[in-house]
Amino acid sequence: MRSSSETDAAQSKHHEHVAEFINVSKRFGSILAADRLSLGIRRGEFLSFLGPSGCGKTTALRMLAGFEPPSEGILRIDNTDMSTVPSYRRPVNMVFQHYALFPHMTVAQNVGYGLRQRRPRLPKAEIGARVQKTLSTVRLDDFGARRIWELSGGQQQRVALARAIINEPSILLLDEPMAALDAKLRVEMQRELLDLQRILGITFVLVTHDQEEALSMSDRICIMGGGRIMQVGNPQELYDRPRNRYVANFVGKANILQGEVLARQAGQARIVLPSGTEVLVPDVTRDTRRHVEVVVRPEALSLGCAHSDKGTAIPARVTHRTFLGDHTEYLLQADGIGALQVNLPRQAETASGGHGVGDDVHILWAAGTGLVLAAED
Ligand SMILES: Nc1ncnc2c1ncn2[C@@H]1O[C@H](COP(=O)(O)OP(=O)(O)O)[C@@H](O)[C@H]1O
Ligand SMILES: [Mg+2]
Repeated sequence: MRSSSETDAAQSKHHEHVAEFINVSKRFGSILAADRLSLGIRRGEFLSFLGPSGCGKTTALRMLAGFEPPSEGILRIDNTDMSTVPSYRRPVNMVFQHYALFPHMTVAQNVGYGLRQRRPRLPKAEIGARVQKTLSTVRLDDFGARRIWELSGGQQQRVALARAIINEPSILLLDEPMAALDAKLRVEMQRELLDLQRILGITFVLVTHDQEEALSMSDRICIMGGGRIMQVGNPQELYDRPRNRYVANFVGKANILQGEVLARQAGQARIVLPSGTEVLVPDVTRDTRRHVEVVVRPEALSLGCAHSDKGTAIPARVTHRTFLGDHTEYLLQADGIGALQVNLPRQAETASGGHGVGDDVHILWAAGTGLVLAAED
């Protein structure tokens, strides 16, 4: 397990960015695929661009690689403005969604391709040695003479990786590289990618629409929506302190409720919900709006009786109950509020004996849980 607080401390001390987007926009005709992106990518980090299809992730990556020029703004890699630097001169390499391997070449020829293009030419023996070393790095030592079509999906994936890292780029760009793999292989590949990054020590930038993949792999995640950066942070920050509704919905499961603010004090807001119940919720928005949205995660709520000293009790009826082994998911209908999800860990269920569909229960909201969301601007 990597410790994100450790890497954060080390990196903020050096403030070292391997790449920077400074107000970068990209237009395709009338489509604004990237809208004023500003982001520093830290040297050695694993950063993911996460967002739904069409939100501009690939466009951001292709601009970094030099396949698309920005319409506006500045892109720097290793503190150098990239506006006049062509793709093949940039210290980056990309692994494409469908690998784009050369089917008529052997594995070794595919991996050595980048080195054979170098001018002045490299000695044959050096190319051979580096191909073998790189094949070994991705655990394909004995596969050099194979044809691409003789390999499994996972092996093809590793050839694509080997081909991208043989030039020792500063940044490895990965555009949904696991999308074509089945679920089991995908998890294996995710682990291998993390190991590979540890061995190589270079910056990885991954594009994905899979929140679990982003959460489990990244030092930091850049959440994108409609060509814009919605929030950048480490996985726990994004989960615990989503800035707005978009981020709250995209990372993890979220109950989002409407509320009227009664009072604000010391980073907390006293809020009345449409059910008439009052809750005390952390508020870092510095908003002065009266009407706000509040997010509360399903595992932050619990079920119990009305007269609990554990927090505010909201009357509700169980509509669905799904046993999932380590926890049980409850869907409930709360008066004035609508549907809410509550996840109870196994231990809590055993203690209370559980609740069935149709039961009238109380959702318990402990003071200080949840978060006031900022308006989406
Ligand atoms: N070469 C292109 N020409 C025209 N429109 C494009 C081109 N590339 C991307 N787009 C558009 O830009 C938007 C962002 O696309 P993309 O960066 O591929 O999103 P993502 O990778 O997040 O799915 C989409 O609306 C897409 O249709
Ligand atoms: Mg894409």
